[in-house]
Amino acid sequence: MTDTKKQEQGPADGADEREVLLKVEGLVKHFPIKKGILQRQVGAVKAVDGIDFEVRRGETLGVVGESGCGKSTMGRVVTRLQDPTGGSIHFDGQDITRLNAAGMRPLRRDIQMIFQDPYGSLNPRHTIGSIVSAPFRLQGVEPEGGVKKEVQRLLELVGLSPEHFNRYPHEFSGGQRQRIGIARALALKPKLVVADEPVSALDVSIQAQVVNLMDDLQQELGLTYVIIAHDLSVVRHVSDRIAVMYLGKIVELADKTSLYESPMHPYTKALMSAVPVPDPKRRGAKSDRILLKGDVPSPISPPSGCRFHTRCWKATEICKTTEPLLLELRPGQQVACHHPESAEDQAPQDTVLLSAAKEAAAGARGTARPATTDPQPKDDQEAPTDK
Ligand SMILES: Nc1ncnc2c1ncn2[C@@H]1O[C@H](COP(=O)(O)OP(=O)(O)OP(=O)(O)O)[C@@H](O)[C@H]1O
Ligand code: SF4
Ligand SMILES: [Mg+2]
Repeated sequence: MTDTKKQEQGPADGADEREVLLKVEGLVKHFPIKKGILQRQVGAVKAVDGIDFEVRRGETLGVVGESGCGKSTMGRVVTRLQDPTGGSIHFDGQDITRLNAAGMRPLRRDIQMIFQDPYGSLNPRHTIGSIVSAPFRLQGVEPEGGVKKEVQRLLELVGLSPEHFNRYPHEFSGGQRQRIGIARALALKPKLVVADEPVSALDVSIQAQVVNLMDDLQQELGLTYVIIAHDLSVVRHVSDRIAVMYLGKIVELADKTSLYESPMHPYTKALMSAVPVPDPKRRGAKSDRILLKGDVPSPISPPSGCRFHTRCWKATEICKTTEPLLLELRPGQQVACHHPESAEDQAPQDTVLLSAAKEAAAGARGTARPATTDPQPKDDQEAPTDK
């Protein structure tokens, strides 16, 4: 690759050298659907259906995708709040895939989860002091200087007053409650924090504050994050790499710069086009808005081949029959697509659009140009090498 390319990948290269803290391979989580008196299994919700990724020490992996694509399930399974159906999870070099509650107990210190709902996740009958000190009690840990002092230190760390110790959750705003949730999650100095939509229940004006707080704490405490969000704009600034999920699969996984500057999966491109452009210089630029038609199909019987083929404006026959593998098409950018954007076509011989693609293309404008019957590389594609 060229020098420019190398420069662009500077931060990602740094991240590459970091040690892997979490390694997930072929992870599957199916929820059985049972019917009748005998409760026979008649099907399964394929919430997570074979995903692989790594999270390196000190980095932030953002996970995005539409509602129902399996983000929360992935979070609950990798933190072992739920059992996986298949695949493996290694944390800090240890295989935690099949550990039972007792086996996970010592690891609960190291792996914490922050939940979306700052209202529901705090017990209204407990004081802030009691909520934030719960992890010490549960783990039987006595911090230096005593629990109260440590809790007050944590409250200060997340921007609250130590005097809030004896107050109750209802006395706080949403943003403050989420800070309390963060203080509780950080109490035991975890190695990994999985935050499931940590700011989506908050007022937009508060969202940035809480995300920035998490970012500051990461620097200060050397935390590793997996941050789940609906909205790409939430994870944009804090993530080193971003995984895009669609119907239980990762369709693209790339460093932030590559993903934002040149998304390769059509679904990523559609998600990106829905994000408002924050750069005032680009605001007047030609809108490349891609409107995805239809809902996400059911994870009980996901579409064959590429799961996105029922909504993709580039879908051809091969997309319907053959599942695209998640391949590294550019350094640091893995994509699962037969006809990726800005790269060599993975299935150049397959050019006839599916009727669903024609329909989707009609609803898409700008760069959502269909793969047409002309398989020639687009102007933004690299010249094809021999196939
Ligand atoms: N305990 C469960 N039993 C059965 N199905 C479940 C269960 N938990 C989740 N699901 C299903 O699994 C799929 C993925 O759900 P999940 O909550 O992981 O998605 P998500 O990406 O987090 O969505 P959202 O953005 O709305 O939070 C959904 O179809 C959901 O209905
Ligand atoms: S072009 Fe084909 S493989 Fe790629 S996202 Fe669209 S349907 Fe899936
Ligand atoms: Mg969720």
